[in-house]
Amino acid sequence: MAKLNVNGAVRDYEAEQDAPLLWVLREQLGLTGTKYGCGVAECGACTVLVNGVPTRSCVRSVSAFKVTDKIVTIEGLSPDGSHPVQKAWAALDVPQCGFCQSGMIMAAVALLNEKPKPSDADIDAAMTNICRCGTYNRVRSAIKVVADGGDASRAGIGIEHADGRTT
Ligand code: FES
Ligand code: FES
Repeated sequence: MAKLNVNGAVRDYEAEQDAPLLWVLREQLGLTGTKYGCGVAECGACTVLVNGVPTRSCVRSVSAFKVTDKIVTIEGLSPDGSHPVQKAWAALDVPQCGFCQSGMIMAAVALLNEKPKPSDADIDAAMTNICRCGTYNRVRSAIKVVADGGDASRAGIGIEHADGRTT
């Protein structure tokens, strides 16, 4: 049986060697946080980290990965949504429909790991994911919140909450 190293554990799978990594993650390992959008490496909804590098899992054959390759999906960031990027996303209400957001978050995590204080140009270069809901401005703001230490109140965005408060 073939093996993958996903979210810190070695997992068995059975699939054709040309099966996309995305389908093994979703259908065999039950990690459905990683989404299928376009299937042609354009949208980024399927982004996972492989050895820290953001990787579009819809176009990568599972056989290309060795058990020594460390794959991280959105489920592997934290058990409870407490990763700093996840917390900034929640604080700024970044997601709309949410479909693209796990891929967005994984791309942002990779960026911030490599460049803890990214410039706008760095963000533009790294965040090539597509969002049909148009969350791009809040994605940028959330990345800056993390870069500034996690204080969402300095993001310059007025967030209207369900209870009527704007913070
Ligand atoms: S589903 Fe992989 S890039 Fe769109
Ligand atoms: S939040 Fe809906 S597609 Fe991005």
